[in-house]
Amino acid sequence: MSSDSNPSAAKTFHVKSFGCQMNVYDGERMSEMLGAQGYVPAEDGVDADLVVLNTCHIREKAAEKVYSDIGRLRRANGSKPVIAVAGCVAQAEGAEIARRAPSVDVVVGPQAYHRLPELIAQAQGGKRAIDLDMPLESKFGALPKRSANQRATAFLTVQEGCDKFCTYCVVPYTRGAEISRPFADLIAEARSLIEAGVREITLLGQNVNAWTGEDDKGRDIGLDGLIRALAKEDGLARLRYMTSHPNDMTDGLIAAHGDVEKLMPFLHLPVQAGSDRILAAMNRSHTARSYLDIIEKMRAVRPDVAVSGDFIVGFPGETEDDFQATLDIVRDTNFAMAYSFKYSKRAGTPAATMDDQIDDAVMNDRLQRLQSLLNEQQQAFNAATVGLPTNILLERKGKLDGQFIGKSPWLQSVHLIAPELSIGDMVDVDIISAGPNSLGATLRQYQEA
Ligand code: SAH
Ligand code: SF4
Ligand code: F3S
Repeated sequence: MSSDSNPSAAKTFHVKSFGCQMNVYDGERMSEMLGAQGYVPAEDGVDADLVVLNTCHIREKAAEKVYSDIGRLRRANGSKPVIAVAGCVAQAEGAEIARRAPSVDVVVGPQAYHRLPELIAQAQGGKRAIDLDMPLESKFGALPKRSANQRATAFLTVQEGCDKFCTYCVVPYTRGAEISRPFADLIAEARSLIEAGVREITLLGQNVNAWTGEDDKGRDIGLDGLIRALAKEDGLARLRYMTSHPNDMTDGLIAAHGDVEKLMPFLHLPVQAGSDRILAAMNRSHTARSYLDIIEKMRAVRPDVAVSGDFIVGFPGETEDDFQATLDIVRDTNFAMAYSFKYSKRAGTPAATMDDQIDDAVMNDRLQRLQSLLNEQQQAFNAATVGLPTNILLERKGKLDGQFIGKSPWLQSVHLIAPELSIGDMVDVDIISAGPNSLGATLRQYQEA
């Protein structure tokens, strides 16, 4: 245990999150909790008294990263911070972390991090602390209220876990079964975020559209009902949600895109592959056709919706024909953006032991071809927004004097020079230029009538 810091000074901490937005959210809640315990944020990991590595287990590279990161935390004088490993690697490999990395003091799973202060105290008493429980009582009830943070946007986890068991995926094992947080808790958390200045909330879940609950009148509602309720909150300008699963894409949720003005025209709907044979082997329980039907319905109510997706190339048994079907569904859908990955074999998942694992060279080649098509589509989507009148929410300052970076309704980054404005402002702009990853805009000039 390190004890070279000044005991009278406040303890400092650093939380580093990897992986999905849900980990970002968890990282923020851990930071707020440590802040409530009197810890202050440190600039950098190595100098902090406590470092929390909030890890991701989704692909092999992501999971291995934690071990190199732990190694880098040793300081020049041989001392080290208190090290806590949280997140999905902790859940999946708790015992192995303890064995491979003796310098780790605390291992805490994603459903137990509300107990972090006790675990740190136990570790400081000289006993390594491991907590991988998935307790029935919710961690959310035990966390401090959201604190003011001067940001325009925030994540709000509404649903956790996954019951879908896609054959390649570790999430059902690391995050546990699907649970929905209660309606009243979510309204309360949204209100405290809005009071703290947040203008845009992104509702999060591993399968966010599987959220169900009872509203304040005792009616059973789905994610669309929650969105409609949140849209009534004054002060909130925009709502988004991710990640959704095709099978939970209800007509009600699609309809909300047509008439809830605050719900942004953006849909992240992973499809993974275009071949029905591969989709079946992945246990996705949707087909290429049923995916395209959802996109069609969505565009009927919201023609400008930006569609985003996730793809895996090189799933066991994937042939060139199967891969061509993936390119076909990309052409048929027309994506505004997308994430694509090489299949990564994860121990304990059914796909790991399937025959016909695909060669790395074949996967590289397919990934490259897929990404070049997706990049073309992204550039075309960005270019098509040039000349459109729209609005952006200013999220942070840019590198240049008076420059801000905001987001368009379609989740594109937009650069704007407007020294008189502030973070959190929603402004009407004209998009004037489009690069591969961001747009340029000018403030709309209104003519006197
Ligand atoms: N619940 C969401 C997201 C889960 S993880 C969904 O179903 O879409 C995010 C993405 O990581 C997945 O959509 C998938 O594209 C990718 N992924 C998951 N497991 C993977 C694996 N073993 N190898 C490669 N990519 C994987
Ligand atoms: Fe993983 Fe599939 Fe669940 Fe998404 S739906 S988290 S890919 S098992
Ligand atoms: Fe990674 Fe866990 Fe999210 S495995 S993608 S951090 S749910």
